[in-house]
Amino acid sequence: MNAGFIGIGRYLPERVVTNHDLEKIVDTSDEWIRTRTGIEERRIAGDDVDTSHMAFFAAEKAIENANLSAEDIDLIIVATVTPDQPFPSVACLIQERLGAKNAVAFDVSAACAGFMYGVVMAKQFIESNTYRHALVIGVEKLSKVTDWNDRNTAVLFGDGAGAAVIGQVSEGRGILSFELGSDGTGAKHLYQDEYIIMNGREVFKFAVRQMGDSCINVLEKAGLGKEDVDFLIPHQANIRIMEAARQRLELPIEKMSVTVDKYGNTSASSIPIALVEELESGRIKDDDLIVMVGFGGGLTWGAIALRWGK
Ligand code: UT7
Repeated sequence: MNAGFIGIGRYLPERVVTNHDLEKIVDTSDEWIRTRTGIEERRIAGDDVDTSHMAFFAAEKAIENANLSAEDIDLIIVATVTPDQPFPSVACLIQERLGAKNAVAFDVSAACAGFMYGVVMAKQFIESNTYRHALVIGVEKLSKVTDWNDRNTAVLFGDGAGAAVIGQVSEGRGILSFELGSDGTGAKHLYQDEYIIMNGREVFKFAVRQMGDSCINVLEKAGLGKEDVDFLIPHQANIRIMEAARQRLELPIEKMSVTVDKYGNTSASSIPIALVEELESGRIKDDDLIVMVGFGGGLTWGAIALRWGK
């Protein structure tokens, strides 16, 4: 039995905050932000929209896209480091709102790699025949833990949600291989105290090395090579980090998903949001080989190789 993506959805807040808007708040410039990160603007949720609201909107779309009803969902995994409150989990909050009364629901904390962790967990439950339909959501409201006076972090992050229903797909399709990893010795480089604290250079070095390694590892595990990759969906943290991964795979530029310019770094939601955009634009087709790869605070990382289609 193969687990794969059978429904997808995303939600982005309407409010756009441009680099020029940030120039008025911190000592930065549009030019610095663009050239160092690739970010032009990001979405910021209003006070009345918390993490669970964004998760709900994305989840509703993914369930509809999978042609299922909420009662068909057996498992809800929400990847987030910005839950509405420490408990109950965001997963339980949206279970109630969706009416997914048959689901087991919990959150996973793996920062920007969280969606990869969630998808791999879902795969285990589907392929062991424990559950039939798993809803995995990456969602963050990073704006509420961002110090808007700290130019090292304020320019990087955005809010959003991306969701996928993972279920059984046909032979040869679905998640072919994965890699997950953690290195708690790097916890000091990226964490939340009251606000996000980051040693950008250390995270950058780790990310460049790990993103490339993980892509190569999942391809090897699937018995495939760089030349087989049709599309790369990297965590949208910084265009320079993403470019390093693309070059490791020797992929042409049009085969990598880029949304960091519009949404900034949305942590756990960046990979599923990018996936939805690529599907909506028709750039991903059935039987394409896709590599998704993420890294984040923890330190954590995760990648999958996936043959698209139901
Ligand atoms: O999802 C995981 C989350 N984290 C990441 O992915 C972060 C990974 N790291 C990065 O993306 C990059 O390290 C940054 C974008 C955070 C920083 O880029 P950098 O090329 O590593 O810059 P830097 O930290 O080496 O700083 C270069 C200069 C410094 O000035 P001096 O010391 O050379 O005078 C900084 O103070 O740029 C300055 N700087 C800024 N200037 C204008 C730092 N932030 C800003 C800013 N605007 N926002």
